[in-house]
Amino acid sequence: MNPCKSPLSSMRRWLLLLGSATALVAPSIASAQGELTVYCTVQEEWCRPMVAAFEKTTGIKVSMTRKSSGEFYAQIKAEAANPRGDIWWGGTGDPHMQAAEEGLTEAYKSPRLAELQDWAVRQAEQAKFRTVGIYAGALGYSYNADELKKRKLPEPKCWSDLTLPAFKDEIQVANPNSSGTSYTMLATLVQIMGEDKAFAFMKAMHRNVNQYTKSGAAPARAAATGESLVGITFQHDAVVQALGGAPVKIVSPCEGTGYEIGSMSIIKGAKNLENAKKWYDWALTPEAQAIGANAKVAYQVPSNKSAAVPAAAPKLNEIKLIPYDFAKYGSSAERKRLLAKWDAEVGNQPK
Ligand code: G6P
Repeated sequence: MNPCKSPLSSMRRWLLLLGSATALVAPSIASAQGELTVYCTVQEEWCRPMVAAFEKTTGIKVSMTRKSSGEFYAQIKAEAANPRGDIWWGGTGDPHMQAAEEGLTEAYKSPRLAELQDWAVRQAEQAKFRTVGIYAGALGYSYNADELKKRKLPEPKCWSDLTLPAFKDEIQVANPNSSGTSYTMLATLVQIMGEDKAFAFMKAMHRNVNQYTKSGAAPARAAATGESLVGITFQHDAVVQALGGAPVKIVSPCEGTGYEIGSMSIIKGAKNLENAKKWYDWALTPEAQAIGANAKVAYQVPSNKSAAVPAAAPKLNEIKLIPYDFAKYGSSAERKRLLAKWDAEVGNQPK
């Protein structure tokens, strides 16, 4: 009798097979219960302590990548048939609003909504709860005061100063396609000047731009090191550089300026939906919202009413803020139209 054919040995073989199959499947089931993929759009220096604190609080293993607002919007859209991310945390509100309108993100009403500032709740309501405000910050620019003095250049105070011939090749700003910061500038200028004048202004400023960066905050670093004289960013990004000892001066442009409602959205079809909700609820707590300032890496105004506003955060009530129209400039049609126009009339133009 062939021993391989005995009923006992075939049963043993089945058991062995079953055992190895379970060994293959079991870890992925276990890790699927304890994992979360975070798409993070603030500065990496802030993403990291957030992830560490969440992992410590919940035991959930986080895999995190950092990209700019426009880049993650495009990635989430490209991955819509097979989403790889679970939650998109941070970045300017407009691309989050666009993703919401296009059904790329999941509606969710956190039990913490009632704890939030009106501007954060309004953002959620406008997006049918497919996004929510997590922080706010005003746009502006910073310049290297040492370099300015050395070169005997006039102190810039307004948006209009940025087209002065004296600032040829001295201004850095991000590309609005990749960067939410730069799209906020584009939409802000359109709201302040009207569309024709805003595009004429950006065309004139184009001659003075030394580089369109991918990430929104990079120009603040360039101004801090003197690589660029002026960097257009959110003011809180320049605060990080000033507190780090850089000789930068921060400007709230005299004509007024726009602001962002930094947002968070759960990605539609998230593989780890329950954990995404856990991150969402946790990220709205005052404790989680204190992490950036405690680590001395982020000085936005937090959205939870009980969260402490960092002492170094630019005072929004002292800045001439425009009533930025988030519904309009976060709408899919308007954002697409303005970006295509910027490419054609500004970004792709010779200098
Ligand atoms: C920086 C700012 C954030 C902002 C983000 C947008 O990280 O500190 O407040 O939301 O930039 O990034 P992006 O690269 O899309 O301009």
